[in-house]
Amino acid sequence: MTSLLLRQGRLVTDPEATVDVAIQDGAIADIGPHLDVSSDQVIDLEGRLISPPFVESHIHLDSALTAGQPRWNQSGTLFEGIEIWRERKQSLSIEDVKERAIAALKLQASQGVLFVRSHADVSEPTQTPLKALLEVREAVKDWLTLQVVAFPQDGIYSGTGNAERLREALELGADVVGGIPHYELTREDGVRSIQYVFDLAQQYDRLIDIHCDEIDDEQSRFLEVVAAEAIRRNMGERVTASHTTAFGSYNDAYAFKLMGFIEQAGINFISNPLINLTLQGRTDTYPKRRGLTRVKELWQNKLNVSLGHDCIQDPWYNLGSGNLLEVASMAVHACQMTGKDELIACYEMITTNGAKTLQISDRYGLEIGKPANLIVINAEDAIAAIRDRAVVCHVISQGNHLVSTTPAMTTWQISV
Ligand code: FE2
Repeated sequence: MTSLLLRQGRLVTDPEATVDVAIQDGAIADIGPHLDVSSDQVIDLEGRLISPPFVESHIHLDSALTAGQPRWNQSGTLFEGIEIWRERKQSLSIEDVKERAIAALKLQASQGVLFVRSHADVSEPTQTPLKALLEVREAVKDWLTLQVVAFPQDGIYSGTGNAERLREALELGADVVGGIPHYELTREDGVRSIQYVFDLAQQYDRLIDIHCDEIDDEQSRFLEVVAAEAIRRNMGERVTASHTTAFGSYNDAYAFKLMGFIEQAGINFISNPLINLTLQGRTDTYPKRRGLTRVKELWQNKLNVSLGHDCIQDPWYNLGSGNLLEVASMAVHACQMTGKDELIACYEMITTNGAKTLQISDRYGLEIGKPANLIVINAEDAIAAIRDRAVVCHVISQGNHLVSTTPAMTTWQISV
């Protein structure tokens, strides 16, 4: 007797055939074409897609769901966003951040996201965003895994006390060390900020996720410093470079050389197509740059790339639904990844690649013995899921049936 039995779904890795999945004691007990088992709870999937959950590898939950507070970003620029956030930050409280973060996580979980890495702004002495998100991490742990990045939004060397506050954030329990080298006052400060981030990560045994070169300036070259430190300290798979939008503006000779160093380093990349398509290229006339990193070329060179939402309804992005299929769809278009293998690659960028970045292989994947974290999508394969932004019908977390959603049904009222 199993606790939950899924009948006749298609595994995303092999959508040609249908299988049953048996779940017992919170884990995947068996997978096979026709399992001879019974269960209290049986769900007939009718050929729908079974996938590991979506992984949100880059989001800022501390600012989520504040769009329009105290006013809307009318220009849509990064700079107006920073001004608005400076005003909104004045009224930040632990309860305010927790309430919005949990609402955003529920929005994402209901659409199949069960693993999330969120940045927490550690630029204020109160550490309110970090403390709140650490409480949220604990509050949601029975149904969602949250990693918290200590993110020095205003830079590490741009103000007194910032460097110590980053260390304090790790003492308080942040999972990941962040940085923002292109926003430091000088190139030299940027370089030593990266070294400091690596030092802290080694000292506290934490992962690294740096907002790196999120600017259109082709002279912003901190990715090479991140790669160099990862090579020297042999830390590649524990290191992530987020955004790296300047990589899209580098001359090809430099980009080609850099790609070799990155391959040697083996670091992870996160691109946020919704946000960088809208925030970057704002000072261009025409041709206007797309503002994304070289997602397709990184993938072609077998580097690990995942996709994130970055913002959900905050001062930098008035939109955002929490749906990672929307993010994948945007990447398909903006990165020109419309071939069959490329479409499947974009699906992997919101699932398995994100899991690799978050280093959660102990609890992620459709394998017997692994914790039963999986989703059922109203689609026949990964390409259809992206094409239709298909509904996630069932979300199963740690063996528990967390959410079910019924897809909309259209009925023609005349015969045609
Ligand atoms: Fe970000």
